[in-house]
Amino acid sequence: MPSALVVYDSKTGSTALMAAIAARALEEKGWAVVVDTADKAPEIEGHDLVLIGGPLRLGKPSKKLAGFVNANREYLEKTACAFFLSGVSLGIVKKESLPEIDIYIDPGFEPIVYDWHFANLMEYTHTVQYYLKHLYKHIGSIKPLGVGFFRGKMDFAELPLKEKLITYFIMIFIKDFEEKDYTSPKAVADWACRMAQKAEDRA
Ligand SMILES: Cc1cc2nc3c(=O)[nH]c(=O)nc-3n(C[C@H](O)[C@H](O)[C@H](O)COP(=O)(O)O)c2cc1C
Repeated sequence: MPSALVVYDSKTGSTALMAAIAARALEEKGWAVVVDTADKAPEIEGHDLVLIGGPLRLGKPSKKLAGFVNANREYLEKTACAFFLSGVSLGIVKKESLPEIDIYIDPGFEPIVYDWHFANLMEYTHTVQYYLKHLYKHIGSIKPLGVGFFRGKMDFAELPLKEKLITYFIMIFIKDFEEKDYTSPKAVADWACRMAQKAEDRA
């Protein structure tokens, strides 16, 4: 039986829910699955697929996700792995290329397409190009099967005051950056199964 590790960081529970959805989908496909948080340094050896997820924060993946990747770089370089990032807003810069990997964008996002001349700094830091640029700073030599962007939830009640204030500020500039749960369990489950299929095909 193939086995997967689903490891995640989550500040307000959104990515944790996605990790649970992905794990259930893989189990239904006949995989043995271990789910754990990135800061607990779960044992990675022996898994055929590692799904790594975390929230987007000011355009960047969370520090705990980056820490897990750095600590396990050697294993991730030789194993099938994929990343899932949860956020609430995603734009696309028309004239900027994307890395040649399997990029999945949750259909729940309604991306604004920017001609980059017209994207201001706040808008640019909420685009798929900016997100990937910062994710790749951590991925480096790892070659993931894919990267999935999923719409999660914005939960002000769970945020400390400083982050609430930052969020109110971002909301002035960014479309859809509002308190709402956009999670699509089907999108997450379908993507997880697609990554599992790719891992099986590659084995
Ligand atoms: C300070 C702060 C910055 C954020 N920055 C982004 C961002 O750059 N892009 C985005 O799509 N969502 C952003 N979000 C929204 C979160 O990524 C989103 O709510 C995510 O689903 C939360 O996941 P979690 O509950 O697992 O922490 C931000 C939220 C906060 C509080």
